[in-house]
Amino acid sequence: MKNGVVIIGAGHGGVQAAASLREEGYDGRIVLIGDEAELPYHKPPLSKTFIKDPAAQPQILRAEAFFAGASIELALGERVASLDPAAGRVTLASGTDLPFDKAVLATGSRPRTLTFEGGPLGGVLSLRSIADARLIRDLAAQVEDVVVLGGGFIGLEIAATLAAGGRNVTVVEAQDRLLARAVAPAISAHVAQRLSEAGVRILLQTMVGQLEGENGHVSAVVTSTGERVAARMLIVGIGVTPSTELAEAAGITIANGIRVDQQMRSSAPDVLAIGDCASYRHWLTGEDVRLESVQNATDQARLAARTITGHADAYSAVPWFWSDIGDMKLQMVGLTARSDSQVVSGEPADNRFSVFHFRGGRLAGIESVNRPADHMLGRKMMGAGFSPDAKSVAEGADALKAAFADWQS
Ligand code: APR
Repeated sequence: MKNGVVIIGAGHGGVQAAASLREEGYDGRIVLIGDEAELPYHKPPLSKTFIKDPAAQPQILRAEAFFAGASIELALGERVASLDPAAGRVTLASGTDLPFDKAVLATGSRPRTLTFEGGPLGGVLSLRSIADARLIRDLAAQVEDVVVLGGGFIGLEIAATLAAGGRNVTVVEAQDRLLARAVAPAISAHVAQRLSEAGVRILLQTMVGQLEGENGHVSAVVTSTGERVAARMLIVGIGVTPSTELAEAAGITIANGIRVDQQMRSSAPDVLAIGDCASYRHWLTGEDVRLESVQNATDQARLAARTITGHADAYSAVPWFWSDIGDMKLQMVGLTARSDSQVVSGEPADNRFSVFHFRGGRLAGIESVNRPADHMLGRKMMGAGFSPDAKSVAEGADALKAAFADWQS
């Protein structure tokens, strides 16, 4: 392969794909293209430690010396303007053409936006990149009243962080519970209670109707229930949209993301896609999914590298995810959206419990609050294909471990 591999997107997935190609023994040219000028960095801290601490620096994924040592060419601060799968070529916005044998799309996703009546106004922000996080951090240092639109992971992580820093925070969520997309009602209720105790005001079944401003900057929001809430900063965290435009313009099949097979190949044979931008049939449930997690991006990157180097196996990683919301470490494993029964282990009152999800009598996943051992055991059990019965779950962690050990022996 003389033209090498071009990786588009330098987030968690793109960087891992480059590193894994070398680990798999690939010795052709690798160019990693990213539209942000700085070295690729960890995204999860941006909604937590980074916005809390004015002196916090980005945590880079790999040092510059790593890329140089592995002969991975970095094209940072560059956007890909077009992709031509048939010709095996990408064209950068700066005009340069790059030929490729294989391209990996790791373009990620970006925050959904809304057009507000009364807007656009300054102080209305969303979080995806380190540049966004710097804006939030700088403004948070100057204001008291913050409204967070969206009670999902991003919104709640930021809300908890800013409330702990003394801000007056209101969360406005359209659904009738927090984190409705991702977790069981028992977790939603617990998170709501704990955040309320930490001083966060939570408005459910509510949207933002209109913005009010002063000198071009937001000063208040008027909710769909007609309440006026003071806000010098409005953070919009209402979900993300996969970045599929390049693939779409290239005629590649899109279905809630760039459609890929079990080896991460798109409908164009030499173009692969991984991470937030890719949709695929999940081996665990047979459902078509598009997962937004660091785990999914990095595991798919490893697999893409194996596909390119000819060692492909089918994607078989167990999905997992975490979120730190104030004093709650939420950890999730499996796919729980369509579970049909749930068993709670531990005590919500202790701020330490797990919800085990079952579907058709089989373990579908576990959501834990401050119970990392349950999460780790869940990853092991699901990876091994073991499903405990509800009785051993209800009996507690020791019974569950014993049931798994029995099954293994
Ligand atoms: N008004 C109020 N709430 C809304 C609106 C709206 N117009 N539209 C959507 N929401 C709510 C949803 O009901 C949901 O609770 O916003 C929340 C969005 O939550 P997520 O889907 O979890 O998305 P977000 O919090 O933006 O996080 C995006 O970033 O942390 C990563 O990978 C993680 O998938 C996550 C992604």
